[in-house]
Amino acid sequence: MTSQRLRLGVNIDHVATIRNARGGTVPDPVRAAHAAARAGADGITAHLREDRRHISDADIERLSREIDLPLNFEMAATPEMLAIALKAKPHAACIVPEKREERTTEGGLDARGQHNQLAPIVSELAENGSRVSLFVEADTAQLDAAVSLGAEVVELHVGRYCDLFAEGDHAAAARELTRIQDAARYGASVGLEVHAGHGLTFDSVAEIAAIPELVELNIGHFLIGEAIFIGLEAAIAKMREHMTLGRTRAA
Ligand code: PXP
Repeated sequence: MTSQRLRLGVNIDHVATIRNARGGTVPDPVRAAHAAARAGADGITAHLREDRRHISDADIERLSREIDLPLNFEMAATPEMLAIALKAKPHAACIVPEKREERTTEGGLDARGQHNQLAPIVSELAENGSRVSLFVEADTAQLDAAVSLGAEVVELHVGRYCDLFAEGDHAAAARELTRIQDAARYGASVGLEVHAGHGLTFDSVAEIAAIPELVELNIGHFLIGEAIFIGLEAAIAKMREHMTLGRTRAA
């Protein structure tokens, strides 16, 4: 059975990337969040990186104050980010692995291997009122670790599937898709709310949107790139159409 309407979280990090290329204040990620709301997004996602390469502390403060949509605050499991999240009290806090030298988030969080480091962070965030999400690979050991940590949500990393799909490696993409489908089913069966994200495009979203246990997709880079050609609101609306098509075909 296909679950309720799939939620779309729009990641606005790369509006800030473009702003920061020149310094100054434009384009404004908070304006992008308002545009996403008009286009029917269900939430806004922003990743405050340790090196502040895109989203800034001031962006998080403004997003917390000025937008009505729920904010999904992506953060590394560090004392600095924990302190910021405790102050901002976002609707959701998604813990991601972070390496200084990476261009984007590579691979999922090792929720199993870092259990002892993550446990106090997950519980402080939850006690502070945020829904805690862990960005993990489609792997049952990681999902079991998320349950034992008390996280309500996992976000499955679908970046490898999207890369294989874009490269036209159909056999490998199909194997990766099966892994994601199995993980979504397992995650829901052990009581997790299951989301997915990373690397999704108009073309790759359909098969992911068709996975019945998924409740939310978080999409950023492609939408901001597409906005250059057709505008942000149109890009979000079109992504929503592709999600709905994928979901409906599967029902
Ligand atoms: N979900 C998580 C946890 C992420 O770290 C990112 C990238 O910041 C995304 C979703 C969005 O990925 P993309 O920008 O490739 O759509």
